[in-house]
Order: sequence, then structure tokens, then C-alpha cells
Amino acid sequence: MNPVQQPASRPDASQGSAKARESLSITDNRTGKSYDVPIKDGTINAVDLRQIKTGPDDFGMMTYDPAFNNTAACISRITYIDGEKGILRYRGYPIETLAEKSTYLETAYLILHGELPTKSQLSDWAYHISHHTFIHESTKKFLDGFHYDAHPMGMLISTIAALSTFYPDAKDIFNEESRRKQTYRLIGKMPTLAAFAYRHSLGMPYSYPDNDLSYPGNFLNMLFKTTEMKYRPNPTLEHALDILFILHADHEQNCSASAMRNVGSSHVDPFSATAAATAALYGPLHGGANEEVLRMLMEIGSVAKVPAYIKRVKAGEKKLMGFGHRIYKNYDPRARIIKGIADQVFDVMGRNPLLDIALEVEHIALEDEYFVKRKLYPNVDFYTGLIYQSMGFPVTMFPVLFAIPRTSGWLAQWEEMLLDPEQKIARPRQIYKGYDKRPYVPMEQRS
Ligand code: CMC
Repeated sequence: MNPVQQPASRPDASQGSAKARESLSITDNRTGKSYDVPIKDGTINAVDLRQIKTGPDDFGMMTYDPAFNNTAACISRITYIDGEKGILRYRGYPIETLAEKSTYLETAYLILHGELPTKSQLSDWAYHISHHTFIHESTKKFLDGFHYDAHPMGMLISTIAALSTFYPDAKDIFNEESRRKQTYRLIGKMPTLAAFAYRHSLGMPYSYPDNDLSYPGNFLNMLFKTTEMKYRPNPTLEHALDILFILHADHEQNCSASAMRNVGSSHVDPFSATAAATAALYGPLHGGANEEVLRMLMEIGSVAKVPAYIKRVKAGEKKLMGFGHRIYKNYDPRARIIKGIADQVFDVMGRNPLLDIALEVEHIALEDEYFVKRKLYPNVDFYTGLIYQSMGFPVTMFPVLFAIPRTSGWLAQWEEMLLDPEQKIARPRQIYKGYDKRPYVPMEQRS
């Protein structure tokens, strides 16, 4: 599969005459000079524009692309998205198939290794992940330093960063064996850190990992175990969580994956880079949106008040959280799968009363011209919060539930960046519009 998405009208490079057209002719009207810039994978290399100058002192032409709306920052072979058609694939496998047939651990293996594991590869992988779930006892000491109402994402970010101090060998990033070990550690310990943060907020003793349980089953054990000798997760909830983890495992060059790549490009250890990626995910426009959706539904309060709320969104007073996406201009395929899981969870836990408000929001928004014109559809975060709430999670845990599975995607993106000979330390350019050189003004002369 070609790693870079192709525009529909791209000429066929295999045809002789078409091949000659695989370039872009540019005329600089300031100088009258013309340039021929090669096109590869439907893309021009921004550095090729540097030759376009008005004179020897000119730095050369740059592109201006705040928020990377139209810039490919890497070549990737991990995740494919067609936002117009609503397609999402990990390593070529459709998300719908993986959600139906795979498990999170198998999917994480696929994302990181590029191929589905054999039976023995999978059992080896699961063994190593489950044998890296324990965290150093000192971690509990600094968790204890947080306020009882500290946001669990803040605790998670800090404790992930702190792991780098326990594993100085993680700095050996060009050693394949070391990278594999940190991968086991990060995927294994994320649920433990998340669950410990949750138990801390409740003032409950920490519940230690149980290696007999599945990845999501063990997470539920560390969250919800009380006095029972052996915690037995509800199979429906365990399965639902596993699917949710699959859906959140990777999403190509989003804000947190870009943070992972950018920070990792300085060759820092993967714990520090993952802490940065988790911080990026925390924001309400990214992984924090699931928390905001729930707050929004509670603020709306009833089905009858939905039209008034939509009116405020259209007036620019509010954003409809859980709607819209930089890439998807169609129904987010993950949101469709999540709607199905919601029914299974509600059958066990009872229907979430906020569901009717959410359905009404979706119903009105999908027919309203404002949303239709801007191609705003429900995204992955629109329904996840309702499921998480029904499963017994407080809203502050929602972004944490996103961060745990996304760790496999971050690590795959990080490793791909490290091994890509075209990559270097990330360092964008700027267009400087500040003051020119000016004299220092002594304090008594300042107004
Ligand atoms: N509610 C109301 N209007 C919106 C929304 C929204 N949720 N999203 C976009 N718009 C409008 C926006 O105001 C703009 O209108 P106009 O053309 O009149 O200025 C137009 O739609 C295009 O939006 P944009 O801001 O240029 O789109 P973007 O690609 O920069 O932003 C987004 C994408 C996800 C940040 C944005 O849609 C948003 O803020 N959504 C709500 C937060 C959310 O649900 N985030 C989760 C994203 S999915 C999971 C993840 O990646 O973590």
C-alpha cells in the first residue's frame, strides 16, 4: 500500500507521457524566473522551494501552514485514514474487522510490528506485557503527594515522566532490545498508573495487577477490586473495554502522535516522549473532548433544551463537543462502532439517561445546515463518555481511558520516526513580524 494518500486525479506515473508531468512548474512573477519542482506521492518537497529567491540575500521561498493543515511531516506505514469516505485502517486492516475479530493486545502487536502475530508470537507478547505491569513502590509515594481531587491526567503525565528516572536504560533508543523492553514497560504499566491515580482520588488502597486476567480485565481489577479474593470482571464490560481500546490504539498524525514524534526527535527517552504525548492528549480539543461531551450533555440537561443549545453553538457561543474532525468529513467510523457497544453496556448497567439527549443532539445536528455545510459529524468522543460513565468511571478518567490504548500507537509512531533516515530533530520555521533592532530603554524613560 502506498503510504501517502493520493489525490483522485493524480496522473498515472506508469504511462510514458504522464511520467514527464510528475513535476510542478512555478513562475515567480517577482523575478520572472521559472522552476520545475518534482512531484512524488502527490506531494512536493517544501525544501525544493528554497531555490526560489529574489536575490542572493533572500533566504528562499517557504510555505506557511499553521496547524499543519496541508503538510505531510512524515512517510508512515502504520495507519490509513480516508476522511471523506470515513475509512480507518491499521496496517491495512479495517477498523471494523479488528473491532470484531481482534483483541487490544493483538492489535497493539499489529500496530507496532506491522503484521498480525502468530499464536506463539501473541502469547509471548501477552506474557511480556503482563509481566511488566508492576510499578516501583516509590511511585506510590509521589502519587500520595497529589491532592485527593488532582486530575488523573495530571497524575498520569507526571508518573509516566517519572518512570524515565527508574529506567535509565531507556535512553539507549537506537538499541532494538532496549526499545522492545520500554515498549513492554509502557504498555504494561499504563493501566497500573491510571488505576492507581483513580484509587488515590478515592482514598482507596491500591489494587495490584493480576496476571491471570486479560489486559482490560486486569485494568478493571486494579480499578474496582475491593474485598473479594479474586476479582472477576464482567465479560460484557471487559469485552466492551477491549473494543474501545482497539478503536483508540492509533490515529496517524494527530496532535498527540505529532507531540510524540516531535519530542522524540530530540532523542529523549520514550517515557519522557510519552508523557509529552499524554499532555497533548489531555486538551479538550483532543482526548479531553470525551470529558467535555459529558459535561455538555449534563449542562443541556434535557431533550427539550437541545434546540436552544444548538442555537448557541450556531451563534458561535459554544462548540458542540464530540463533533467535527480535522480529517473526517464524514461519520467517524469509530463512532459508529461505539454506538453498537453502548447498547451492550447499557444492557448490563442500565441505560444512561444522558443517551436521549445525545441522540437528539446528533439527530438535530445531522440535519441542520450549519453542521451539514461544514461536514461536522459525531467523532469518537461523542458516545464514549456515555459508555464510560455507565461503566462507573468518573468523567475525569475519560481521557485516561484514551491514553492507555493510544500508547501502542505513540510507540509505533516514535519508532517509525527514529528509524526513518529522512527524519531529523523537528524544527519548524517562522515568519518573523516582530520589532526590528531597537535600543534598550532605561527604566526612567519608559512610559
Ligand atoms: N462545534 C461547532 N462548530 C464547529 C465544531 C464544533 N464542534 N467543529 C468545527 N466547527 C466549525 C468551526 O467553527 C469552523 O466554522 P467556520 O468555517 O464558520 O469558521 C468550521 O466548523 C471548521 O472547523 P475548524 O475549526 O477549521 O476545524 P479544525 O479541523 O481546525 O478542528 C476540531 C477540528 C476537532 C478541533 C474541531 O472540530 C473541534 O473543536 N471539535 C470539538 C472538540 C472535539 O470533539 N474534539 C475531538 C476530536 S476527535 C478525537 C481526537 O482527535 O482526540
